[in-house]
Amino acid sequence: MRLNGKTALVTGSSRGIGREIALRFAREGADVAVNYYGSADAAEEVAGAIRAEGRRAVVVQADVGRTADCERLVAEAWQALGPLDILVNNAGMEIKAPFVEVTEADFDRVIDTNLKGTFFTAQAVVRRWIAGDRGGRIVNISSVHEELSFPGHATYCAAKGAIRMLTRDLAVELGERGITVNAIAPGAIATDINRDVTEDPRARAGLLARIPLKRLGRPADVAGIAAFLASDDAAYVTGSTYFVDGGMTWFHEE
Ligand SMILES: NC(=O)c1ccc[n+]([C@@H]2O[C@H](COP(=O)([O-])OP(=O)(O)OC[C@H]3O[C@@H](n4cnc5c(N)ncnc54)[C@H](O)[C@@H]3O)[C@@H](O)[C@H]2O)c1
Repeated sequence: MRLNGKTALVTGSSRGIGREIALRFAREGADVAVNYYGSADAAEEVAGAIRAEGRRAVVVQADVGRTADCERLVAEAWQALGPLDILVNNAGMEIKAPFVEVTEADFDRVIDTNLKGTFFTAQAVVRRWIAGDRGGRIVNISSVHEELSFPGHATYCAAKGAIRMLTRDLAVELGERGITVNAIAPGAIATDINRDVTEDPRARAGLLARIPLKRLGRPADVAGIAAFLASDDAAYVTGSTYFVDGGMTWFHEE
């Protein structure tokens, strides 16, 4: 097992990609703090599945868009499981709107959840790692839209593009402390976030036509590389984004 004896916090892990990462980490031997925003029942189900693997789990409600919540989330996870070794900044959301119609409130919500939450949850964890003279692993869940345009999602693209640079910057600033920082850029992974596209036959066919591997991604496709990046196998890997997109980012046809 790759993560034997490790402890991890996975934000937004009551469903989707975060849920799969939390469960995969438990199967790899890690104890896991499950963070949720709205659905306590779903989070408890994930925690139950982690305990069924013989691992410890704690459930913590927090809105990562609020800096005070990020600090409390890390404090509660740390208190319940002991020092964290791994942080996965997975919580994210998007609000679709043409650029000219984006409101300040929607801009703030998308930036706060995707970018500010990643920034300040990482800060809360890294402060503890520095205070304890410990190293650690940070895995940020970015998106192919850190690189690839997505009309109707200007704020989401801005947030994920910023995560790309945050990942590189923290990797360099924190490297001498034994902290690695990497990102995963998922393509089209079938979850609640894109159900409007994946469950609409026309939109789904259009999407599949642009994916060289000719299928949607599964949360497990992302969880596998997250487990690698959190493990000792990735000890010398930092500052990079790993695309898990079936080849979509480099697709071009005329
Ligand atoms: N599914 C995809 O195709 C895809 C592609 C690229 C990137 N991503 C990214 O993967 C991550 C997970 O998304 P998903 O596909 O599993 O979607 P999802 O909607 O199923 O999961 C998002 C999770 O984030 C949580 N969350 C949202 N706002 C939060 C907040 N303020 N505080 C705490 N938690 C919050 C949700 O409760 C949920 O658990 C996101 O960062 C998303 O941007 C997904």
